[in-house]
Amino acid sequence: MKFEKNILCIGAGYVGGPTMAVIALKCPTYRVEVVDIDQDRIDRWNSDKIPIFEPGLDKIVKETRGRNLFFSTRIEKGIKAADIIFVSVNTPTKTFGEGAGMASDLQHWEKTAHKIIESADSDKIIVEKSTLPVRTAEAMERILKAGNRDIKYEVLSNPEFLAEGTAVKDLLEPDRVLIGSHQTEEGKKAAAALVKIYAHWVPKENIITANLWSAELSKLVANAFLAQRISSINAISALCEKTDADVAEISFAVGRDSRIGEKFLRPSIGFGGSCFKKDILNLVYIARGYSLNEVADYWEMVVKMNEYQKSRFVQRIVREMFNTVAGKKIALFGFAFKANTGDTRESPAIFVTQKLVEERAFVTVTDPEALDNARKDLESTMQMAPDLICFEPDPYKAAEDAHAVALLTEWEEYRQLDFEKIYKSMKKPAFIFDGRNILDHKKLYETGFNVYPIGKMQYTHFD
Ligand SMILES: NC(=O)c1ccc[n+]([C@@H]2O[C@H](COP(=O)([O-])OP(=O)(O)OC[C@H]3O[C@@H](n4cnc5c(N)ncnc54)[C@H](O)[C@@H]3O)[C@@H](O)[C@H]2O)c1
Repeated sequence: MKFEKNILCIGAGYVGGPTMAVIALKCPTYRVEVVDIDQDRIDRWNSDKIPIFEPGLDKIVKETRGRNLFFSTRIEKGIKAADIIFVSVNTPTKTFGEGAGMASDLQHWEKTAHKIIESADSDKIIVEKSTLPVRTAEAMERILKAGNRDIKYEVLSNPEFLAEGTAVKDLLEPDRVLIGSHQTEEGKKAAAALVKIYAHWVPKENIITANLWSAELSKLVANAFLAQRISSINAISALCEKTDADVAEISFAVGRDSRIGEKFLRPSIGFGGSCFKKDILNLVYIARGYSLNEVADYWEMVVKMNEYQKSRFVQRIVREMFNTVAGKKIALFGFAFKANTGDTRESPAIFVTQKLVEERAFVTVTDPEALDNARKDLESTMQMAPDLICFEPDPYKAAEDAHAVALLTEWEEYRQLDFEKIYKSMKKPAFIFDGRNILDHKKLYETGFNVYPIGKMQYTHFD
């Protein structure tokens, strides 16, 4: 079949895979190829068990794969054939040299720019899908211009706003699609080609066009604002625990103000995921680079508050369990950084496990989707303390003989568990620390548990 356009995506990760699957689904006349340097990841995209868990994704991949969606490691061939190239490689926080711990590590991204100039033999539209520091497109253009001068490249910014766990829904019904371009004739023409793709299923009024730098910076700002709300309510949860105010009642009352809105006002053990922390730190680094120290300090506090919330949670477990968890079994319910994903990058559960192991607790981790990733995340901790960590897919077994359960991920199935059965199988006094406030605390108390929610009254049987 002759396709109308060839789309290539470099990077078959949490963003590249689902985004391209949805484009392939909605644009059957476009050929969409997703390439990666990681052969294992590509093999898994081509297998029955795709490498990431997202509700609804499996079905879309099965429907489109081999029809107009292809996964391969043939990067050069893909670049040659493509009209539009999305770059969706990882941009983690730099761990070395200048800006270590703050700045974006752009080495993967830069390698793709070099690969493009080595392989391209016709004009291309390059779309930044990765989250990048503002003005990165300028650097991309400089690299591309160093190649064959007869080939024209137009760089667009099209940041991805999907949230893991709801990626398919977010891609099918996005609040908005943002496309940034140079405000030149060529820039606008390239932007129009990208608008045309999304217009297959996204209403025109939800497709926003902007200048390139606004689009790049908007993504960092959106993540900073979302994380800020979490840190804000978490800060208030600490105050609630001291004053007997109830954070859920506060969220409800405050969220009813239409200027504030009700979303992202749930307290928790802190945010995780691959993006919030790295994107805020990147924003902080950029602000400091322009000597905007007050701006940098302001945003950095969002990350510090998150670290505080995670520490507070562990400290509370130790304190409430009579100041020692050494030799006690603690079952961690959930390891993914949020429900409906197997992703554990920056999951607060990593910190919680490590700290409990430092306190010499026996930790049993359970999670419906994230145990493989949890094993990898805890590899070095396990080398130091191999007897203190184990993994158990069944939450009932995980809780057997435990002194405490700490709920870390808001999986729906944890709400449905038979906590009477769990209580009976545990050591007494039995503790439960609800790091997501999703359980029925009063009922748990009546069952016999000592219950510690976040930012709410605790229920204990102690005098
Ligand atoms: N995960 C999210 O929820 C999310 C949401 C919005 C935006 N983003 C941003 O999207 C980008 C990608 O994130 P992700 O979560 O998909 O990352 P990921 O780590 O899951 O995937 C990135 C992929 O790029 C591949 N890659 C790296 N260098 C390459 C190269 N030179 N050539 C070919 N492939 C290469 C890696 O092998 C990997 O498979 C990041 O900038 C991230 O900040 C992520």
